[in-house]
Amino acid sequence: MARRLGCSRAAVQKHVASLRRRGYQIDARRSQGYRLIGTPDCLSATELGPHFTGTWRDIEWYDTIESTQVRARAWARDGAPEGATVIAETQTAGRGRLGRQWHSPPGVNLYCSIILRPTLPPTRVPQLALVAGLAVADAAHATTGLAVRIKWPNDVVIGDRKLAGILLEMEAEMDRVDFVVAGIGVNVNLPADAFPDDLRARATSLSSALGAPVDRAVFTARLLADLEARYRAFLMHGFGGLRAEWEARASLTERTVTVAGPDGALTGRVVGVDDDGALRLDVQGRTERVVAGEVTLAAGGYAV
Ligand code: BTN
Repeated sequence: MARRLGCSRAAVQKHVASLRRRGYQIDARRSQGYRLIGTPDCLSATELGPHFTGTWRDIEWYDTIESTQVRARAWARDGAPEGATVIAETQTAGRGRLGRQWHSPPGVNLYCSIILRPTLPPTRVPQLALVAGLAVADAAHATTGLAVRIKWPNDVVIGDRKLAGILLEMEAEMDRVDFVVAGIGVNVNLPADAFPDDLRARATSLSSALGAPVDRAVFTARLLADLEARYRAFLMHGFGGLRAEWEARASLTERTVTVAGPDGALTGRVVGVDDDGALRLDVQGRTERVVAGEVTLAAGGYAV
C-alpha cells in the first residue's frame, strides 16, 4: 500500500490510526495489508457520498452545533448554492415550530437544514412545507416499508405519533424570495424509552416502529434525493402536480379535526387539500378552506 501511495509504511500506519479514531473498523494482517470492515455511523459527506443519487451534494457536517438552521441561514447569506445542506449529529438548541425546542440527542437521528432559492412569490413559500413533508414521508417509506403519513400541513407521522418535523424559514423582499431554509428533524434510531417523558406517548422513531435499526446514511441520501425531485416538480407544476400523491399519504382524510388558526378555531371533517395546499374541511355541509393553523383530532391525539 505504501508503494502504491508513494509514501512510507509509517505514514500509512498513521493514516490508518487516524481513520480508526474516526470510527472506521480496519483489519490489519501482517504482510497482507489492511481491510476495511466497517464505517462509522455518521452523516458526513464521506459517509453519504456512496449513497447519493441526486445533484445536491454540498454538505457541511458538524458533530455538535447550536442549530443547523442558524448555520444554514449564515451560509445562505454568504452565497451558498441551492441544495447546500447543513447536517449535525446533535444540536444544543434545536428549534421547532412556534418557538418550541427540538429534542436533538447525538448520533441517532437526522437534523438537517437545506438551502433553497425558489423563484416564487413569498406568498407561495408555505407550500414548500407540504412538499418537504411528502419527500420525508416518501424517503421513510422507501427505506423501511413502514406506513408513513403526513398530518397537514407537514408533520410526518406513523400511526398517531410524530416521526419528523419541518421548519421553514425565509428571507425575502416584498415580491422576491432571497432564500428559504428547510429544517428537517427525523427520529431515526432513537429507542422508544429514550424520548423525554413529555414526548414518549406522542412521538416515534423509524427504528422503534420497525423493530430494527435503520442505516442513517442511506436514509439521509434518499431524503435529499426525494426532496430535490419533489422540489423541482413543484417549481415546474405547482403543488397541484403533487396534490394526488400528497393526499394518498394524508393521515387526516375523513377524520374530524379542530384547527386553531389566527381567526379562532374551526371543527370539521377533513375532505382534502386544494391546489395551493389549503386544508379543505366539511363544516356542517359547507366546505371551508384553512390556510394556516394547528390541527388536533376532535377525539384527541396529535397534540404534537
Ligand atoms: C417542528 O416543530 O415540527 C419542526 C422541527 C424542525 C426540527 C429541525 S432539526 C434540523 C433543523 N434545525 C433546527 O434547529 N430545527 C430543524
